[in-house]
Amino acid sequence: MVKIKIAITGTPGVGKSTVSKLLVKKLNESDNAERWGCQNFEYINITDAVKENKLYSEKDEEMDSYVVDFQKLNDYVNNIIKSKSKNLIVDGHISHLLKVDYIVVLRCNPEIILNRLKERNYHKNKIKENVEAEILDVCLVETLENSDNVYVYELDTTNRTVESIVDEIIDAITHKKTKYGIVNWLDDYFYMMD
Ligand SMILES: Nc1ncnc2c1ncn2[C@@H]1O[C@H](COP(=O)(O)OP(=O)(O)O)[C@@H](O)[C@H]1O
Ligand SMILES: [Mg+2]
Repeated sequence: MVKIKIAITGTPGVGKSTVSKLLVKKLNESDNAERWGCQNFEYINITDAVKENKLYSEKDEEMDSYVVDFQKLNDYVNNIIKSKSKNLIVDGHISHLLKVDYIVVLRCNPEIILNRLKERNYHKNKIKENVEAEILDVCLVETLENSDNVYVYELDTTNRTVESIVDEIIDAITHKKTKYGIVNWLDDYFYMMD
């Protein structure tokens, strides 16, 4: 039975975890499960998996983040798919760097990202880095660099309900749709860069 690995990527604060959790729930509902070969979808949050399983080489104190060991992370993900015989939803802002079948790149208005990251009390350097990454399409560009034989679907979540975003993703993966180049934050939000 073919198994599918779907990466949900995007700048921190874009809504990956919120969307991924509802996506897994909906995909595992019975009528959807049948379409996917009756195999359940397993959810992996990369940040949690890296911490819990020590899939890092070092900790970056200044940015309060871990330097991920990609080899270990890839092995971890592949082991799950082999041993549990499940489809996977991998949630994380580096999930597009893994070997997956489908990459969903979530986008969101940079002003909204800024406010969400402020609410998280991130260090100002980390907020700036992430807001600029959203404006400059960093996750999308990295995705396209890593997209040989991968379906890429970019989706603007701004002012959308989580439910409607999830429905669009299910439609996209079901029909193997690809779409990207849908936002241009740089023209409208250049003032946020300095
Ligand atoms: N479509 C949406 N509409 C409104 N709020 C959202 C939406 N998606 C996410 N959020 C909110 O934005 C914040 C960040 O979402 P989260 O899923 O944690 O992002 P990420 O996992 O990408 O860092 C959370 O407070 C979440 O409730
Ligand atoms: Mg998250």
